Amino acid sequence: MACLPGALPALALRRWLGLGVFMLLCLSLGYALEKKVVKSKVGEKVFLPCCHEIPSSDSLQNYRVYWQKNTTEVVLAYAEGKKMPQQERYENRTGMDVRNLTLWISPVEILDNGPYQCVVQHRKHSQNSVVVCDETVTLFVTADFSKPNVTVEKRFKTCESTVMVVSCSSHGGFPKPKISGALNNVSVVWNTSSVSKSSLGLYNVTGQLWLNVTKDVSFTCSVEYNGFLKSTSLLLKNKNDCVVPTVPPSYNVITASSIIIIIFLLAITLAAKYLPRHVCSHCCKPQDSVEEDVKESMKPPVSSKVTRETSSV
Ligand SMILES: *[C@@H]1O[C@H](CO)[C@@H](O)[C@H](O)[C@H]1NC(C)=O
Ligand SMILES: *[C@@H]1O[C@H](CO)[C@@H](O)[C@H](O)[C@H]1NC(C)=O
Ligand SMILES: *[C@@H]1O[C@H](CO)[C@@H](O)[C@H](O)[C@H]1NC(C)=O
Ligand SMILES: *[C@@H]1O[C@H](CO)[C@@H](O)[C@H](O)[C@H]1NC(C)=O
Ligand SMILES: *[C@@H]1O[C@H](CO)[C@@H](O)[C@H](O)[C@H]1NC(C)=O
Ligand SMILES: *[C@@H]1O[C@H](CO)[C@@H](O)[C@H](O)[C@H]1NC(C)=O
Ligand SMILES: *[C@@H]1O[C@H](CO)[C@@H](O)[C@H](O)[C@H]1NC(C)=O
Ligand SMILES: *[C@@H]1O[C@H](CO)[C@@H](O)[C@H](O)[C@H]1NC(C)=O
Repeated sequence: MACLPGALPALALRRWLGLGVFMLLCLSLGYALEKKVVKSKVGEKVFLPCCHEIPSSDSLQNYRVYWQKNTTEVVLAYAEGKKMPQQERYENRTGMDVRNLTLWISPVEILDNGPYQCVVQHRKHSQNSVVVCDETVTLFVTADFSKPNVTVEKRFKTCESTVMVVSCSSHGGFPKPKISGALNNVSVVWNTSSVSKSSLGLYNVTGQLWLNVTKDVSFTCSVEYNGFLKSTSLLLKNKNDCVVPTVPPSYNVITASSIIIIIFLLAITLAAKYLPRHVCSHCCKPQDSVEEDVKESMKPPVSSKVTRETSSV
């Protein structure tokens, strides 16, 4: 595939350059099109391969090795077997294998994202240095977002509905995410949402939604980045607590009022029973027999009255 663009001019060239050169052209073209990418996660140890392995018959003493980033920063460099000064941010977290010249970075950071170039020069017996190879490898560091944290704040409540502020947040990820929300699987538009970036290049993301909930709904908050998805779901309940007291109250009112009526009737009965005696105790104290007679004679009408009133209820 990589050879196709070069194939037509190469056919013309082949007559006077020879097959060997054509093959070389093909190989280098293939190399240029096939970018080397190394993927890693924040905090891990990552290895970036170089393009040359020093044979056991030779040593690093005869080489200059430059690992540089973006062609401007010195990540790690060796000359005549000695480590040369490097950019401060790579101090104490980089190293190199002295045979295959593989660079390691640990712990890797988001800011380490980008292209790295490995340049190898060989010095042969007091001759000038020759470039053995020069290759670029791109580092792609990602960071996982935290599981979205969903919080619900009730603002407003009536019998039929609850107004809630639902917030969702996730932090510490890379690359830049998309935050989405869904109510019963139907996507919603956030009232407000924001993405912030820390000095270390990590993103925080939040979304906020105002909802008028009339019945229980399922809410899902999702954070999507680099093909990964993290989500949290929860049930938003509209507790209809006004209805609960409304049904039993009608029943309670009946029982309560019947109890009040019964007590009232009992009070009347007792009053009817004792009031005459009380009155008599002042006027006819000695006449106990009379009192008894009165009581006896009073009894039937009272009881009949009670039954009449009860039945009317
Ligand atoms: C380089 O050498 C180390 C051991 O010293 C080995 O673990 C690693 O796989 C080698 N890398 C390559 C690209 O050959
Ligand atoms: C790194 O290189 C890219 C282009 O490849 C450029 O846009 C960017 O500014 C460079 N960064 C630094 C720190 O030099
Ligand atoms: C690297 O480690 C050395 C020795 O432990 C220390 O003196 C130096 O300050 C460190 N450099 C950085 C950038 O942390
Ligand atoms: C979720 O957010 C709330 C409010 O910001 C906070 O109090 C709580 O600790 C968070 N929970 C987690 C697991 O981060
Ligand atoms: C939401 O959709 C998923 C599949 O896309 C399905 O499994 C789930 O039952 C749905 N939930 C609701 C509440 O519709
Ligand atoms: C939130 O957005 C909805 C529509 O998406 C809108 O009806 C409502 O007024 C907004 N609420 C606030 C407080 O912005
Ligand atoms: C991102 O969130 C973390 C944890 O909640 C917090 O410590 C940090 O300050 C936040 N960073 C930004 C840039 O908002
Ligand atoms: C919430 O919805 C209910 C029913 O649709 C409506 O009666 C009520 O006025 C709404 N409340 C608010 C604060 O919008």
